[in-house]
Amino acid sequence: MTVTEHPQDQAPLRSARLRAISQTLHDSLENTVARYAPFDTPESYARFLQMQYLFQSELQPLYNDPALIALFPDLPGRCRAEAAKADLIDLGVAIPQPVPGALSEPSRATALTWLRVSEGSKLGAAILIKRANALGYTESFGARHLAEPEGGRGKGWKAFNAIFDALPFSAGEEAEADQAANDAFARLQVLLQHTYADHRETASA
Ligand code: HEM
Repeated sequence: MTVTEHPQDQAPLRSARLRAISQTLHDSLENTVARYAPFDTPESYARFLQMQYLFQSELQPLYNDPALIALFPDLPGRCRAEAAKADLIDLGVAIPQPVPGALSEPSRATALTWLRVSEGSKLGAAILIKRANALGYTESFGARHLAEPEGGRGKGWKAFNAIFDALPFSAGEEAEADQAANDAFARLQVLLQHTYADHRETASA
């Protein structure tokens, strides 16, 4: 054994591990979204938007947490709660009431992993905004929350992961992050069920 050994050099990046863990959950979420066909009608889009607003507003305190901003200086500007709220107002859709079960007082590792899930959704949003455009919504009306962030989607995502991956986590924190990735996707499913509760699925699936 030499003193220069660094076990962490062999470990996969945290972000790569989390991507692998949540792949099935992401696919399942994508399928659920597709079943609700949010881009087929304004009525369905409004429900999708309410889900997006609820998720973003649940995370808004984390995006504005001084301890997390100390690590990610651009964090407040990454939050899309206000954009989603403006979209709801554009469409004349009610701002939904909070849904019980939101993340509360998470540890640092848990908070950052939920934020990572939220940030990752900006990648898929590149596809979603094109579909929203077809309904007449744009980055300045109705689909503000799907807009490309300043500097580009890929750059913002890489920058987030670079800081995220460089943070030292204990083994316990790594386990919290794994759990948090699952929990964040599960929460999105809950919010979708909630906003589409009395909605008839339009797809045949
Ligand atoms: C609000 C719901 C969604 C959330 C929270 C979400 C979250 C994520 C996350 C975390 C990633 C990064 C994966 C990783 O590297 O760990 C990702 C990537 C991606 N998502 Fe989603 N996603 C959502 C909805 C969707 C939907 C509906 C689509 C369907 C078009 C989609 C398409 C994609 C694609 C294509 C990527 C990969 C982009 C790339 O690597 O360039 N996502 N999403």
